Amino acid sequence: MTFQDRVFSGMQPTGTLHLGNYLGAMVQWIEMQKSHECIYCVVDLHAITVWQDPAELKTSIRQVTAAYIASGLDPKRSIVFNQSQVPEHAELAWIFNCVARLGWLNRMTQFKEKAGKDREAASVGLYAYPNLMAADILAYRATHVPVGDDQKQHLELARDIAQKFNSDFRSSIEQKGYADGVFFPQPEPVITGPATRVMSLRDGTKKMSKSEPSDMSRINLMDDTDTIADKIKRAKTDMEPAPPATLDDLRARPEIDNLVGIYAALAGVTKEDGLSLLASTAGEGPSIFTGFKRALTEVAVEKLGPIRSEIVRLMADPAEIDRVLADGARRARAIATPVMDEVKDIVGFIRG
Ligand code: AMP
Ligand code: TRP
Repeated sequence: MTFQDRVFSGMQPTGTLHLGNYLGAMVQWIEMQKSHECIYCVVDLHAITVWQDPAELKTSIRQVTAAYIASGLDPKRSIVFNQSQVPEHAELAWIFNCVARLGWLNRMTQFKEKAGKDREAASVGLYAYPNLMAADILAYRATHVPVGDDQKQHLELARDIAQKFNSDFRSSIEQKGYADGVFFPQPEPVITGPATRVMSLRDGTKKMSKSEPSDMSRINLMDDTDTIADKIKRAKTDMEPAPPATLDDLRARPEIDNLVGIYAALAGVTKEDGLSLLASTAGEGPSIFTGFKRALTEVAVEKLGPIRSEIVRLMADPAEIDRVLADGARRARAIATPVMDEVKDIVGFIRG
């Protein structure tokens, strides 16, 4: 069968969003809503796979919703909601727990990273996390999933689950009138933002992340101008006597590469343009990077400043955010409920 194009993606409400979330995913989400039917979720069920303080979780859900809207998502055009308000996610996830194999989940690198050394102490939810993510996408039979580079492996798992469900239940699916035996599509990863992997400002080999203890490692969407300036000023560079001259030189210098990548993405220019700027500003300050960092700060403040003020404005009216989420959840359910009804039939459950 051919599937109608439909976009689904989500972010976890754990603390505030950072530049990696914005450049790696959000910019693409905003672009796609111009041409596609889009569903954007605040994945609170995923958040509790590690401990969340209940009061902070509520605030984070609202703040991430506000960040979506402040960055340019239009909740009238796209569906914006929090995952726990649509029970079909958890229902389908259970069925996928019974489709996915232990061996598949054992390969997931994110679980290994997040569980750390004491794997026995990790929650079962953290382990089953990718099955819930597959359910998020497939409850809407979504075809396109814009994410950052780190989600590639989870997306491959979602494709494997879709395929195994289709083949395990092939005859039941055909009996329902799907002549080719295909009920779930193979969701396609869309990993094409301006910077699909933004690295830490303190270590060019680690990705920028909410869970990194040092706040100096990332630029948050809620950082004020002085904080952004300070973080960029103190961002790690290197001791080479001259700036990189070519893209090959740049690749060998991860910290500079990251800063040039961030500059290019924020300014909407190419990395080559970033290299020219490095060359033309190298004589400006105590370090060869002082002038470049000044320009980077300017463009970061220009782009992120208005987003921050809009988040603050929206957060002043939490009831309005809750209304947006409730409206989104209602529209999301209108799509997910009939899909889930069919899944129940396919699996062999009796519905009243
Ligand atoms: P999370 O904050 O883990 O819920 O991630 C939300 C989205 O942001 C996902 O699509 C991630 O792939 C993306 N993302 C997170 N960190 C980065 C990063 N450092 N660079 C690029 N994309 C990222
Ligand atoms: N696992 C994703 C992350 O940490 C968040 C997520 C949950 C997601 N469900 C999803 C992303 C469905 C895309 C589609 O970034």
